[in-house]
Amino acid sequence: MSDNLGDMRRTHSCGRLKGGDVGREVVLMGWVQRRRDHGGVIFVDLRDREGITQVVFNPTVDADVHQKAHVIRSEFVLAVRGRVDARPAGMVNPNLKTGEIEVTVSELKILNSARTPPFLIEDGVDVSETIRLTYRHLDLRRPRLQRNMITRHRAAASVRSFLNAQDFLEIETPVLTRSTPEGARDYLVPSRVQPGRFYALPQSPQLFKQLLMISGFDRYYQIVRCFRDEDLRADRQPEFTQIDAEMSFVGEEDVMALSEQMMRDLFKTLQDTELSLPFARLTYDEAVDRYGLDKPDVRFGLELREVSDIVEHSGFKLFSGVVQKGGIVKALNAKGCINFSRKEIDDLTDFVAIYRAKGLAWIKVREDSWQSPIAKFFSDDEKAALAERLDMQPGDLVFFVADQPKIANESLGYLRNHLGRKLDLIDPQENAFVWVTHFPLFAYDAAAKRYESLHHPFTAPLEEDYGLLEKDPPAVRSRAYDLVLNGSEIGGGSIRIHQRRVQERVFKALGMDRSTYEDKFGFLLSALDSGAPPHGGIAFGFDRLVMMLCRQASIRDVIAFPKTQKAACLLTDAPAEVTRAQLDELSLRLRVLTGE
Ligand code: AMO
Ligand code: AMP
Repeated sequence: MSDNLGDMRRTHSCGRLKGGDVGREVVLMGWVQRRRDHGGVIFVDLRDREGITQVVFNPTVDADVHQKAHVIRSEFVLAVRGRVDARPAGMVNPNLKTGEIEVTVSELKILNSARTPPFLIEDGVDVSETIRLTYRHLDLRRPRLQRNMITRHRAAASVRSFLNAQDFLEIETPVLTRSTPEGARDYLVPSRVQPGRFYALPQSPQLFKQLLMISGFDRYYQIVRCFRDEDLRADRQPEFTQIDAEMSFVGEEDVMALSEQMMRDLFKTLQDTELSLPFARLTYDEAVDRYGLDKPDVRFGLELREVSDIVEHSGFKLFSGVVQKGGIVKALNAKGCINFSRKEIDDLTDFVAIYRAKGLAWIKVREDSWQSPIAKFFSDDEKAALAERLDMQPGDLVFFVADQPKIANESLGYLRNHLGRKLDLIDPQENAFVWVTHFPLFAYDAAAKRYESLHHPFTAPLEEDYGLLEKDPPAVRSRAYDLVLNGSEIGGGSIRIHQRRVQERVFKALGMDRSTYEDKFGFLLSALDSGAPPHGGIAFGFDRLVMMLCRQASIRDVIAFPKTQKAACLLTDAPAEVTRAQLDELSLRLRVLTGE
């Protein structure tokens, strides 16, 4: 039944034809959205990536063509030649770009048939993600995903043209390389010609872009794939794309200003919205203090307040005990939420437990008293101080978490985001950008009993904190900055270390001895010694940005062929087993250890 194109060539896309085209002869090609038979006349909605056009097979126009149209089914691929006609009065469809016209067909080629698809090719169908990803080529035919992929393309084009105009050079860096630490596990690729040795796929082009600065390329960018073997979430994929940039002879302000202009350009081109510059800024300490998180959603209030000083000597031993052991007590006033039920509060308690909070204490503020399991433990002075600090008004519901700072901040920070959504405090049209600066250089990893880099080991410390590198590592602040949009980290970067002696001090603070860092990063140290200019840069999570631009809830909806939670590609069934012969070639022998 299938047919070749013959002399037919497309004249228009299925989203193009309007009233002004009436009378033209056109050739359209596309997929059958649906076929309807009406009193002998057959109507087909023909679809391509631009839209849908109604094409009509009328026995009075051409009986043979009409006869042939009877076999047409959903998702068949057609070529039709015909005349553009105005739709009869009353049949105009204002919901369709091409709703004023239809095409009366005089020639039909059925280019291919199709099996009945496993789900309807339209938005809003209820189908599991497993099925969608298994038949991703069909899923991608749906209008929403087509729009997302087109937006993604336009975003990349906009970024490229902006950076090209700013004298950036796009330079590629290797995919088969050595480990570039960004805090995740590496994907490894065995070498055939050097048995027992492995490449690592880059977690980012970080070291190469620094080397390019040392080589004199001055302004570099790349829209580049990065690989990280880490636990996946709605906004994380094992391979994802960065807009990666680096500049020489710059400080923080230069990189941030350039990033802001790039965002303004991008949002102007894609959303036709004017972002107001400069973006807001928060230091890391301030962000964590007020929002509990280093990626605050600043579209709504409900800010957190610390009350450790007020409850430190209170009769509530749980709170005073935590403070005396170096923990903190933090609170969130859920304004006007006094009517939350016991069940709702229990659910929120389960919610904070995800972030390891051991409980969620609460006070309901009534006109003349407090209703609470813990109020009885506080003196009148403590109550007055809490009421003032937390702006407690009748109708409010105040939550408390007592724990070590990280847990108290994170659990209440995520609770705040949860309440922001639950209470409908968020304007979905808003784009709230905020820079977070002055991160600590190191974070203590209690399990490994050593410091690790909060960003990566090449981030420069603030010059005034150099003296603390050996004396007080946790107090050292970095020259890193993250860009946060609506509570999601969409970019991060820093000014880098460009002097060997500083880089060595940082490696040592990270617990590496000379032979370890020489072995891993000797090439970098040697390059720093050969005339490295001061430099810095940033990388944006391109998939996350597109997700925001398309207002999608999942990163998978803006990636053509994404992976599942288990890092599998359901379409191709990767990862897959390999043959014994392939392993032999790599000089590898498999012994799969399964969860002992
Ligand atoms: P960082 O690790 O912060 O910095 O990564 C930059 C941005 O990439 C995005 N991102 C991800 N997106 C999807 N899936 C993932 N698994 C994932 N991991 C990160 C985030 C993040 O802000 N080399 C440094 C940048 C620099 O210092 O210039 C780096 O990679 O949006
Ligand atoms: P309990 O004394 O365990 O019954 O707890 C009294 C109240 O304090 C309950 O509402 C608990 O959810 C809450 N709670 C328990 N542990 C903590 C904690 N670490 N931080 C805040 N509230 C807690």
